[in-house]
Amino acid sequence: MMQDPAFPNREITSRRAFLGAVLALGSCDATRFPSPDLEVQTGSASLRDTAAVPVGCCVSTARLRDTAYRDLLARQFSQITPEWEMKVGYIARDDGSFRFDAPDALVAFAAEHRMRVHGTTLTWYKHTPPAFQRLDGDRPAFRAAFVRYVSAVAGRYRGKISGWDVVNEPVDDDGALRTSTWTRNLGAEDHMVEAFQLAHEADPDAVLFINDYDMESKPAKRAALMRLVERLIAKGAPIGGIGTQTHVPIDEAPGDIGAAIRDLASFGLPIHVSELDVSFRGARLDLRMREQKLALQADLARETADALMALPERQRYALTMWGLRDQDSWLRSPPFDQFGVDHPVLFDDAGAPKPMYDAIKLGLGRS
Ligand code: XIL
Repeated sequence: MMQDPAFPNREITSRRAFLGAVLALGSCDATRFPSPDLEVQTGSASLRDTAAVPVGCCVSTARLRDTAYRDLLARQFSQITPEWEMKVGYIARDDGSFRFDAPDALVAFAAEHRMRVHGTTLTWYKHTPPAFQRLDGDRPAFRAAFVRYVSAVAGRYRGKISGWDVVNEPVDDDGALRTSTWTRNLGAEDHMVEAFQLAHEADPDAVLFINDYDMESKPAKRAALMRLVERLIAKGAPIGGIGTQTHVPIDEAPGDIGAAIRDLASFGLPIHVSELDVSFRGARLDLRMREQKLALQADLARETADALMALPERQRYALTMWGLRDQDSWLRSPPFDQFGVDHPVLFDDAGAPKPMYDAIKLGLGRS
């Protein structure tokens, strides 16, 4: 079992440990997190100091070159997810070799700052780099490259990573399984089962996730994902957790996020709120005051934190923000927003905490 770098007195839940834990549910040790110290009580403590679960943020090596960014990240968060540099589009070079410079640097940064690393993603319909595209149609060769890739990447970070998104975004908006170069060459569900099995062999202690978005706004899509999880488990996929990205607008109906988290948690597996942001974007002209939008944002963030905290302790994998400061968010880049009007995450452009920060801190706080 791995020691959890973000919480030295805590061990990372492997699938085996998880199954044992299911049998022992109800016997969680409430003393594992010390009671708040003076700094916590006076409000000057950071999010990572006060949160009862790992709090994550997506990062890139480019942003880590900014000292203000690095300091804020290390002070407030106890987990990172590489935003881009652990995806196949980055790691697989055109000639079929792999580049691990950036992912290695992120793993080293995390170790230096006692943070966990969550890897994303071993498979994704969106990325088929030239090294794989070239093999399209040659099923044996495509499969050999796939096996080599998943084993090499999961194996390289064995023992250094708390969990992996093994399958990302498998269900489309109508609830059908997506098709891609991967599914055409490897089989729609077979490639998912195989990816889970390969990742488990390469890193037996990593919690292996299936991860998707719009779980709160599209109940039919959520139901389709849950049926997929059932089928994959029946076929022998060692699924260890479910990730709900939670990219939501400020107008998400209250209750949707909580309902999605509760529903997904019904498998008894750990839940990762894996990419939280709450966007100001709306379809219509929006004349509401900034303060009003910030308050709506904080309410939805609080609902998310409360829903995660309402789960049994063993099912709370982490809550991850998709961006550190508003200026770092993917929603600030084309095609979403070129004018700096969106403010989706915990810290404003200057790095000051927003109402959403307090909401998350209170929601995840150890009592
Ligand atoms: C996005 C990153 O934020 C971008 O920087 C990158 O160019 C593309 O990917 N769902 C996911 C994430 O699973 O991996 C995506 O991240 C955002 C949507």
